[in-house]
Amino acid sequence: MDITILGIESSCDDTSAAVIRNRTLLSNVIASQAVHVKYGGVIPELASRAHQQNIIPVVDTALKEAGVSIDKIDAIAFTRGPGLLGSLLVGTSFAKGLSIAHNIPMVEVNHLQGHILAHFVDLPDRELPHPDFPFLCLLVSGGHTQIVKVSSPLEMEIIGSTIDDAAGEAFDKCAKVMGLPYPGGPVIDRLAREGDAKAFAFAKPHVEGRFDYSFSGLKTSFLYTLRDAVAADPDFVEKHKADLCASLQRTIIDILLDKLIKASKETGIRDIAVAGGVSANSGLRNAIEQTGRRRGWRTFLPELKFTTDNAAMIAMSGYFRYMAGEISSLDVSPVARLSDLVG
Ligand code: KG4
Ligand code: ZN
Repeated sequence: MDITILGIESSCDDTSAAVIRNRTLLSNVIASQAVHVKYGGVIPELASRAHQQNIIPVVDTALKEAGVSIDKIDAIAFTRGPGLLGSLLVGTSFAKGLSIAHNIPMVEVNHLQGHILAHFVDLPDRELPHPDFPFLCLLVSGGHTQIVKVSSPLEMEIIGSTIDDAAGEAFDKCAKVMGLPYPGGPVIDRLAREGDAKAFAFAKPHVEGRFDYSFSGLKTSFLYTLRDAVAADPDFVEKHKADLCASLQRTIIDILLDKLIKASKETGIRDIAVAGGVSANSGLRNAIEQTGRRRGWRTFLPELKFTTDNAAMIAMSGYFRYMAGEISSLDVSPVARLSDLVG
């Protein structure tokens, strides 16, 4: 029997809705919020307001593009967290309203698990490669950096995570220091292609935890390098932008791969996936493929449209949860932090 899921994502600054039938994506509509660019970061209050304006047209368009009417939806999957509370509230409240009005069950989704399960989405015209269980997923987003052991769509164990900044934050904060627009990750990615990755050396952390990460030392080291150099030459950043970006990106990739290789060695798992906004990074994608070839991994890189926040991944995760009978009650409320979501 066909199961059709409507997914709703509103955890940060993208309002998105998607329709999935079994594992085939029928539509995936994303409204990005340009309002934050001039502030150099996401302003939570403005994000909630923009979600409020976007959510009805986005959901409506997703249903229309899919050619599915609301009464054909078996469940509404929505992001419960982690994320910005006001933003999550918009998606959650909207899902509740739809659920009550049309008597459709609701399924809550952990945003981070959604990023990982994006690897199981198929497109109408082609199946995409899916990892086998168990696999390791390097989850790299704006707020989280983790190595997750994925044993099934519902069983995931975080075996490593950052003790301070996330990889995406390292990109975004260093970009800000260089005067680049938000979000900095894609801009650095583009500039890095023209630069020499060995031009500058930045600090790499020694983190106690087996598979844990740290990026705050790198950020500080980047900041100090720039501060001293700019004191001597005010045009330093402008002259060396590409080299700075390439060297910074190289360091972030090295840090990420170091622990990922260790985790693969120690767990014996060689199906390796990457997910989250930073998995769009071309340098990281190349490095994972190259490392994979050397180490006999099967590597899984998400399609670019599934790297940053989208509702296809929420619908996919919702599908697996619905099939497992994981229905949410109407009194479910969103949670901002991951630690409040698990356990
Ligand atoms: O997963 P995501 O869309 O949102 C969160 O859940 O946080 O990730 C956003 C992060 C931002 O830090 C952004 O700079 C980063 O992903 N990002 C990139 C690239 N595209 C997005 N970082 C490096 N290279 C990219 N091409
Ligand atoms: Zn995300």
